[in-house]
Amino acid sequence: MCGIVGYTGRGSAARAVFRGLKALEYRGYDSVGIALMHGGRFALHKRVGRVDCIQDVQEQNGEIGIGHTRWATHGGVTEENAHPHVYQRFAVVHNGIIENYRILKEECLLRGERFSSETDSEVIAHLFEWEYRGDLLSAAQRVCRRLRGSYAIAVLCLDFPSVILCAKKDSPLLVGASVEGQFAASDLSAVARKGVTCYRMENGEFSILDKESVSFFGADGTAIEKTPVSYSLQEQDTELGGYGHYMIKEIDEIPQAVERTIRAFKREIEAVQGLKDVFRIHIVGCGTAYHSGIAAKLFAQKRGCVSTEGYLASEYRYGDQTVDANTLVIAVSQSGETADTVAAAVMAKKRGAKLLAITNVAHSTLTSYADCVLHTKAGCEVAVAATKSYNAQLAVLYSFFDAFSACRERIWKGLPDLCKKTIEASRRVKEWANQMKSAKCAYFIGRRFDYAVAMEGSLKWKEITYLPGDGLAAGELKHGTLALVDESTPVVALITDQAVADKTFNAVHEVIARGAPVYVVTSIPSYANCEGAVDTVLIPQTKEEYMPMLSVIPLQLLAYYAAVALGNDPDKPRNLAKSVTVE
Ligand code: M6R
Repeated sequence: MCGIVGYTGRGSAARAVFRGLKALEYRGYDSVGIALMHGGRFALHKRVGRVDCIQDVQEQNGEIGIGHTRWATHGGVTEENAHPHVYQRFAVVHNGIIENYRILKEECLLRGERFSSETDSEVIAHLFEWEYRGDLLSAAQRVCRRLRGSYAIAVLCLDFPSVILCAKKDSPLLVGASVEGQFAASDLSAVARKGVTCYRMENGEFSILDKESVSFFGADGTAIEKTPVSYSLQEQDTELGGYGHYMIKEIDEIPQAVERTIRAFKREIEAVQGLKDVFRIHIVGCGTAYHSGIAAKLFAQKRGCVSTEGYLASEYRYGDQTVDANTLVIAVSQSGETADTVAAAVMAKKRGAKLLAITNVAHSTLTSYADCVLHTKAGCEVAVAATKSYNAQLAVLYSFFDAFSACRERIWKGLPDLCKKTIEASRRVKEWANQMKSAKCAYFIGRRFDYAVAMEGSLKWKEITYLPGDGLAAGELKHGTLALVDESTPVVALITDQAVADKTFNAVHEVIARGAPVYVVTSIPSYANCEGAVDTVLIPQTKEEYMPMLSVIPLQLLAYYAAVALGNDPDKPRNLAKSVTVE
């Protein structure tokens, strides 16, 4: 996690770095820092809190600077542990984890060097000072050879007043070149703008940015040419556009996200043909991406595809499941940077599997390993709680399985419109949120596709309300959890699948009998007036396999409204970050 930024050019470095940090804030937001180089010295500004708490720094002079927004891994949330870390001639910002930092730090301490933080990152600044003999690139090569783990770094050196050196291994880093100045950042949204040519750095590469240009070098120090990445400025849009929070804006964008994704798939469908020759399919992902994989697994089974399973990437990467040349691994990730998902994908590739990446970020780490990439076209998702990306993941996964199974049926074009109608029908859950915000624990129940959605609903609930929640298969309640159900445990029941609706309804009666306030989400009119339930949302009806695309919406809205009612920031839940680049 963490976001790093660098700028050198003719404009104000403080403004450029601050702006970049704002774009990267989703990566971590417990502390923030900027180092500007001016008049032969560093001006260092570090604060505990979000990026906005450093906005006054924008008025500072300087045409070169680096910045960092932190999600703490090594060392508590303090100003000392915030980046940049300065040691003598060097200032460094780092995203990643230096796994051998203890040994390296020990060496530095033996030389009598003093550390001012508890982080793994500070050791990089010390190593630069030790390895530096007048040539920045050679020093960087020597330093990087000694680092184990993952890093994207931007480094300032007082001897080079207009130069930023960047290096990367297993953490994302992009560089932007323009007439006005040169940029470096952890992701495209922080560098992409009109007139900026962007490059994605690969593992082992170095770049040197100065006021006028950018140069790239391979691991051995030889200059290399790089091809710019293509990007659409529209897809990098991160404006709030009059909304109070990104999360509600992004829920409102679901219809367009689904529509764009279905349209884009049609252009990419050919790529699927080369992936068909397999005996089994494994879908891997974390959090919401895992949940979209679970719904897609059910969809694949419905379409009669080869054996398809859904796995948590963090388990899969260490699991004993059969993965070989007859396996297609579908790695699903909004960011394309999630450490466990990337590691699972790398493991699968090593064992000879074919790798299909489904991501929302075109030039991500995951895409660089994949045999085939299918893009969700959700547009930039800023809120930490994933919403529109889930719906877009379903759209691409379903389209894929239809094409894979040569099913005549194609994902229904009417879905975006049904999403829109579902959003409208679901606004009333604001009242549910007011009633549920004092719950001891909230349960979300359903069967089959509804169960897949119940898991996602409970994740949203926990993530931004900070209240306990659980997503359960309705049939499992009486095998344990029913013991916890009483007046203080609201139950949200999903009933959208006619074939098992009665069965779920039995579970609803069982929890009502134990005093639980029950809230129903259904697409079946005959369940709309469920006796004993507190309230019901009737959402549009479509085939049961498409229902997750709709039925998740009231649950996303419920979590959002409850978080706001509780005074939480739904966009930046405590302890979390959007891009989980550490294991
Ligand atoms: O970027 P990814 O899709 O790989 O992220 C995976 C999870 O970290 C993510 O879905 C997380 O669970 C969300 N914050 C849930 O809302």
